[in-house]
Amino acid sequence: MPNWSKAGRTAVVAAALLGLAACGRQTDPVAAAPSAADTPGAVAPKPAPSKAELAEIGRLAFFDPSLSASRKMACATCHSPDHAYGPPNSLAVQLGGPDLKDYGTRAVPSLRYLRRTPIWFKTFVSSDRERLTDTDNPPAGGFTWDGRVNTMAEQAAIPLLSPNEMANRDAASVVERLSQTAYAARFRDVFGQDIFSRPADAFAALTQSLQRFQLDDPSFQPYDSKFDQYLDGKVELTVQEMRGLKLFKDRDGGNCVSCHIVEPGANGAHPLLTDFSFEALGVPRNKEIPANANPDYYDMGLCGPVRTDKRDEKSYCGLFKTPTLRNVATRGAFFHNGRFHTLEQALHFYVERDTSPQKWYPHPGGKQQFDDLPVAYQDNVDHIDAPLTRHKGEKPAWSDADIRDVIAFLKTLDDGYRAPANASAPVPAGRAAHSG
Ligand code: HEC
Ligand code: HEC
Repeated sequence: MPNWSKAGRTAVVAAALLGLAACGRQTDPVAAAPSAADTPGAVAPKPAPSKAELAEIGRLAFFDPSLSASRKMACATCHSPDHAYGPPNSLAVQLGGPDLKDYGTRAVPSLRYLRRTPIWFKTFVSSDRERLTDTDNPPAGGFTWDGRVNTMAEQAAIPLLSPNEMANRDAASVVERLSQTAYAARFRDVFGQDIFSRPADAFAALTQSLQRFQLDDPSFQPYDSKFDQYLDGKVELTVQEMRGLKLFKDRDGGNCVSCHIVEPGANGAHPLLTDFSFEALGVPRNKEIPANANPDYYDMGLCGPVRTDKRDEKSYCGLFKTPTLRNVATRGAFFHNGRFHTLEQALHFYVERDTSPQKWYPHPGGKQQFDDLPVAYQDNVDHIDAPLTRHKGEKPAWSDADIRDVIAFLKTLDDGYRAPANASAPVPAGRAAHSG
């Protein structure tokens, strides 16, 4: 039985994250390509595009619906800049395809703060002493809910070619569309006049550009939430927000911080509210997703069927990547399958999954309590980390009032906070309204 637990291994994951972050994991082949322009006598080839040029093209492509088969769907259609680059509606999954009639199978994540995502990794116990603790580190990192790609450039190819998203037949047809855009001339200036005659190179240049835009544009990492300003000592949290933060951190209560990290990094970097680890929370099946009408279909995250290289790792079935909670209060669909549409529901699920299973599952206490995972993998579901450790009939870790306080705290994670005009000095917490 796998025994994925946060206990005693957070430090390992944190160290791995810091190490990876310090090395700067994002590779950048196009920008880093050596320039041969200084060879004497040679015809000077085109110098490698600058990062700014890549980001400029990437921005144009990101907002361009003409790159899709429907000609109506851009990256920004699902990843709306006005919604923290998350979905602009509360649908569990979005509609795409040639006629925008085909449903997806997963909720759209926010694209903010992805820059610090580590590559997919799995650390193993390194000593007998660690082995004796009977716990193992879950894997972490990579892009998408199942971490199946390690760069945003690889990732960008997925929606461009996926039949229920932008639905291009192949890379060549994407490039064909690209060559007809208003910025095709600019694309040739940056990547070479013959670039469209080399579709594979043109497609790679496009996905590199989309990556550069997401890595470098400040709108993807503003760090200007109330919580950021609080960490910088510029504003104070209200009494209710402070209570929420305390509940969120309490190891015996919410214990949310064991996966959704709130401490700044060793280098002072503001926290991302995720450690990128994979966990099986047993989120209930979502009937709003048409694919789920087939009783034999299960989205099992890390072990497939979308991700294909870990199909034999049965202990990975049901595990999904921990998302950032920055801007979470702006979302209208929560978890990988968008099963919940309000934060209240999502938080009630955490603290009442085990105390009141009948609220969440059609067969509570049965062999297949977790109805979105085949019977054989039910043991993968996390029962080790609080608040997922309680039993039926016990008191939930949080009351309704506690949940309201935690939501007040989560709202401080929304970007774009402006302190009220009249508050030149931090508002003392004692004077703030307390509605909990
Ligand atoms: C039809 C809606 C839709 C469109 C259009 C779309 N995406 Fe996404 N995006 C998603 C969904 C759903 C996921 C999660 C996919 C998964 O887990 O398999 C996702 C995941 C991502 C991720 C990974 C996020 C993470 O947390 O690891 C990135 C990066 C991304 N998209 C960028 C893009 C880019 C760039 C484009 C345009 C080329 C684009 N998307 C177009 C729906 C969309
Ligand atoms: C053991 C690790 C772990 C702990 C502890 C944990 N989470 Fe999560 N959280 C996750 C994972 C993994 C997901 C995604 C799961 C999925 O979609 O199947 C998630 C998703 C969420 C989401 C949905 C976000 C979105 O964008 O859809 C919210 C909200 C959330 N967690 C809040 C909390 C709160 C509040 C707590 C404390 C009560 C908490 N989490 C404790 C790992 C954890």
